[in-house]
Amino acid sequence: MCGIVGYIGPKNVIPILINGLKKLEYRGYDSAGICFLNDGQIGIRRCAGKIKALETSIKKDRLKSLIGIGHTRWATHGKPTEENAHPHRAGGIVVVHNGIIENYIELKEALKKKGHKFTSETDTEVICHLIYSYTKKGDNLELATKKALKHVDGAYAIGVISEAEPDKIIAVKNDSPLCIGIGKGEYFIASDIPAFLKYTRDAIILENGDMATLTREGCSITNIISNKPVRIKPTTITWSPAMAEKGGYKHFMLKEIYEQPRAVADTIRGRFSVEKADVNLKEFSLDKAALKGLNKIFLVACGTSWHAALVGKYMIEDMARIPCEVDIASEFRYRRPLVPKGSLMIVITQSGETADTLAAQKEAKRLGAKTLTICNVVGSTSSRDADSIFYTHSGPEIGVASTKAFTTQLSALYIFSIAVARARGGMKPAKARELFEDLLQLPEKIESALHCDKEIQKIARKFHKVNDFLYLGRGINYPIALEGALKLKEISYIHAEGYPAGEMKHGPIALIDSNMPVVALAHDDHVLEKILSNMEEVKSRGGKVIAIATEGNTKIKARAPHIVYLPKTNYYLTPIIFSIPLHLLAYHISVLRKCNVDQPRNLAKSVTVE
Ligand code: AGP
Repeated sequence: MCGIVGYIGPKNVIPILINGLKKLEYRGYDSAGICFLNDGQIGIRRCAGKIKALETSIKKDRLKSLIGIGHTRWATHGKPTEENAHPHRAGGIVVVHNGIIENYIELKEALKKKGHKFTSETDTEVICHLIYSYTKKGDNLELATKKALKHVDGAYAIGVISEAEPDKIIAVKNDSPLCIGIGKGEYFIASDIPAFLKYTRDAIILENGDMATLTREGCSITNIISNKPVRIKPTTITWSPAMAEKGGYKHFMLKEIYEQPRAVADTIRGRFSVEKADVNLKEFSLDKAALKGLNKIFLVACGTSWHAALVGKYMIEDMARIPCEVDIASEFRYRRPLVPKGSLMIVITQSGETADTLAAQKEAKRLGAKTLTICNVVGSTSSRDADSIFYTHSGPEIGVASTKAFTTQLSALYIFSIAVARARGGMKPAKARELFEDLLQLPEKIESALHCDKEIQKIARKFHKVNDFLYLGRGINYPIALEGALKLKEISYIHAEGYPAGEMKHGPIALIDSNMPVVALAHDDHVLEKILSNMEEVKSRGGKVIAIATEGNTKIKARAPHIVYLPKTNYYLTPIIFSIPLHLLAYHISVLRKCNVDQPRNLAKSVTVE
């Protein structure tokens, strides 16, 4: 996610912007820039790469200014280059932005027709030109910004300054985080509190539609949706700077688990149209004819991303009725795979740099397959090597154990499955609309699934000292049993196995005793009765069942001493909802065992070696 910092006050703004951006580095970025006003003249310095490079480039200029805005960019539209780095400018208007403008292509075309010239590939630059076009008609900065944003669909947190009004910063929030720091005669804007915590602990968290106007005299806030002034009541932040980087959470992993509603909302935003009952294929450089002509789909990945690939097989085969083959990436290139004409390989990788996955992608291309990467890092090796790209917008994932990247990968596979089913004519518009509506409700369902945290903490306290866990799932939730087991073992170092529940009688049932908890995923679907009898088999041998079930399931009570109920959703989206308690269980057990949750022993966030 991008980082925004702004300041107006009596101090030199340059070090405040640089230090503030450094405090936001944890959000991940690939370019940075600042804008400042000197005697009413705009100065902009930007660079691709790290803030250090920016700092070095401005050091010799001995810049001084009392107002400015800065930005670290996590590329979503356009490569990580200096031209695409923020701040962006149009005339005397300068903007920094965090978020995704869904309709920027149409807006850009319309502005070009009016003679506007663009210098970047970003969606952000459109906002500058819109605001500039209204100031040219005589509107002040607040009014021009408000009118400009009426054209914009999507998520944004923006900071704006203008040469014509040199003692003012405007900040507006809509679906991307933005807060205000209230100092003594000085005011800050930032994407996150750590950026100004060194200068003030008094913060205002903006709500959707809030427009803050910061001047040397103070800060006022109006909501541009309700058109009403907002009463300012700063919150005093008591976090330590370290806690502040984690948004007040103890670990990045917990923060990222709780970021999932926003991460999924950002990933699905603008990717499909309910009224057209179809996916916006252009965004992924896919086309209907190519999808229609597919004979086979391969999915390759490692670790948690491989679990996403397994879920993807269930989604694609069930919705689109096209054969799918899933490989662990490190196996694919050594088994002399048969890749028929008209094959597509879906490469799933959070980092886009996993060596085994890149090698499988290369082998698939050598064998003539087209490749689609589902990836979280713009400009990563896998995304550069792919024919088509579906970027997840989960924002950088810092914790080694993948959580929000996983659920956004599953959201991407769900959208892709509908795209293939619609292209091959197997899915009627009404069915597609129904599935899209379910997807639009998913962030809210994840939000309510997170309420199981208290129950999970109780279960973690009961079982954090055991040496073995077994996870059982069926159908589309079998890969989630694997995922639950992987999460537990990688951050708590407890031996854990995921198994298809039907396989229990072919071996693992010999392990069942009162010392080994068994997590059973019991979703209300066509195999519910089967998993209920598996739970009976465990119980009758003294095993302890921890059931993850759908709200309203009355059959489960007698079969499990520990039950976690989750919101109902459609069959394909259950894996996303069911992974929430499993990630939380692994997290809390790891904390109780005093393991290094974010940096578990022997593990790396991205395995760039074979
Ligand atoms: C997941 O929690 C692990 N950290 C690991 O299995 C990871 O999923 C795997 O290394 C693949 O990484 P990638 O998605 O970046 O390719």
